[in-house]
Amino acid sequence: MKILVLNGSPRPMGTTAAMIAAFRETAENKGHEVTVIDVCRKNINGCLACEFCHNKGEGRCAQKDDMEEIYTLLKDTEMLVLASPIYYHGISGQLKCVIDRFYASLYPKAPESLKKAAMFLASGDPDMYTGARFSFDGDFLGYLKLEDAGFITNHDENFMDAIRQMADAL
Ligand SMILES: Cc1cc2nc3c(=O)[nH]c(=O)nc-3n(C[C@H](O)[C@H](O)[C@H](O)COP(=O)(O)O)c2cc1C
Repeated sequence: MKILVLNGSPRPMGTTAAMIAAFRETAENKGHEVTVIDVCRKNINGCLACEFCHNKGEGRCAQKDDMEEIYTLLKDTEMLVLASPIYYHGISGQLKCVIDRFYASLYPKAPESLKKAAMFLASGDPDMYTGARFSFDGDFLGYLKLEDAGFITNHDENFMDAIRQMADAL
């Protein structure tokens, strides 16, 4: 399975990075193809709401930036992993820009290949996940009807083991 992981943390040695590394190692050992994009190292603007993508653009975004790499990957991605620190009760701004830009390629419908989604979150305090969970449940599981592959936070008991078990079960 082709898995795209979007890393919303700018910290290469942080908790989100460790969660992604555990997931990647296990998933690759199971034969999955895992691509990790560090969105904080990319130049990705927010959505302009120009609607070019839904009119003349026929699914193409009017903006030309590093999101083009993600649009190409999304064409045959089978599972999406959204991984982020919690900043002010939500995902990082850099990852939010990427999700808003999904408007061109995942709205109103995701490509046929995309079947599953998972979310990994890291925060200082527990119980900080309502905002991110609302988006994951509503936008990805509900609206796009993706299968829930897992929602794991660094405040879950044995969260690194939970990530490895989840990846092992794919
Ligand atoms: C700008 C900013 C905002 C933050 N806001 C919150 C918050 O609202 N709640 C919380 O529990 N932690 C908050 N934190 C702490 C981070 O979520 C926490 O340190 C997290 O583990 C960082 O993940 P990382 O190591 O993967 O970068 C914030 C940190 C930063 C830099």
